[in-house]
Amino acid sequence: MKTVNVGIIGFGTVGSGVVKALKARRELIRRKSGIDIRIAGICDADLRSKRDVKVDKKLLTKDAYKLIRDPQVDIVVELIGGIHPAKEIILESLNMGKPVVTANKALLAHSGEEIVKAAQKKSTYIRFEASVCGGVPVIKAIRESFVANKMAALFGIVNGTSNYILTQMKEKQVEFKVALKSAQKKGYAERIPSLDVKGIDASHKLAILALLAFGHHVKLSDIYTEGIEGISYRDIQYADGLGYVVKPLAIAKRHGDELEVRVHPTLISKKHLLSNVSGVYNALYLSGDLIGNSLFYGEGAGKLPTSSAVISDIVELAKNLIFGGSGTIVDPEFDIGIKKVRKRGDFYTRYYLHFSAIDKPGVLARVSGILGKHKISIASATQKERKREKVVPIVMTTHWAKESNMAKALKEIDRLPAIKKRTIAIRIEGG
Ligand code: HSE
Repeated sequence: MKTVNVGIIGFGTVGSGVVKALKARRELIRRKSGIDIRIAGICDADLRSKRDVKVDKKLLTKDAYKLIRDPQVDIVVELIGGIHPAKEIILESLNMGKPVVTANKALLAHSGEEIVKAAQKKSTYIRFEASVCGGVPVIKAIRESFVANKMAALFGIVNGTSNYILTQMKEKQVEFKVALKSAQKKGYAERIPSLDVKGIDASHKLAILALLAFGHHVKLSDIYTEGIEGISYRDIQYADGLGYVVKPLAIAKRHGDELEVRVHPTLISKKHLLSNVSGVYNALYLSGDLIGNSLFYGEGAGKLPTSSAVISDIVELAKNLIFGGSGTIVDPEFDIGIKKVRKRGDFYTRYYLHFSAIDKPGVLARVSGILGKHKISIASATQKERKREKVVPIVMTTHWAKESNMAKALKEIDRLPAIKKRTIAIRIEGG
């Protein structure tokens, strides 16, 4: 039986979960993979805090570079998160020819290209299953199981916190702030919750998924990103009446030589499988030319699912080291057919619109006139209350419309004296 030694950098929530599982399941992993995974060292700046796993003190160090340069360490596992010093630690390990496992979605989204190239230069590997959808093996599926497919689109609920908040709002009939507090209490939200609720965490994950599915490095600044803070309980309720659920979606679609990438709250039909993905759960719906449609579902965060994903990467890299295995260098930019990222103004979607209008004759006609002028066709319209000369909600859905046309129309509509608040516009996908 061959032994492979790992050096673990970061002994926080995920790091201690990985150490605990590697220790407790050493025999299980040995039997299932034919390799003995041994922890050669663990590094963290804080060695005082109590963890729920006991380790030999001799394994602990505060010096990450000493650990990665240790000739005994075959694989480096980076679990500190953030950009610095994680990036330097990963690059140094790859430069030494040591394969790396990381869960660092923000770093991969910011510097993925540089990191992948550093690995290729030294004919070594970087693996990051835990960076998207936690314990759900979406990366392995796209990279390996779907290798023969040309992907057409992906729709992901990849931020559990946002999904939890929208679910709570719907089920408990509460507003955003109350649901956010509940997410923080449960420990779902990132240390900086704006990363979750502003859609930034989802855009990091979308950048990673887009590279794997479409072979194109997407800059974060090219991903249109909108958070869920603007969603109110009332809109969730109105959407429900129309047969929709509001979900935080990360979307990538291929249109010939263009890739469309966006993150925003979205109305999806209650008939769509993704509409049933509730609470903190994640899901990824993929369309490929051979597989048709495929859905992955599971726990996207948390110590245990994340450590499961990290260990699967460790075992894969260990197999590569010992057996040569899938140790080929792949070209992440495999699709030279994609030339650019679609501009926001060129998106085509259907829309849910919520106008706050004075209830008097002619207002609806003015609003529909402006929509018509900008080539936007109305699919349904309902006035939710009746209060003569007072502000009432008017809810419309539209047929497919070009985003630049919608932006112009809404600017014009919101300038009408009878419109009293900024119009709420939520994109609709599918069905
Ligand atoms: N804050 C993230 C989420 C954690 O809510 O999905 C997992 O990346």
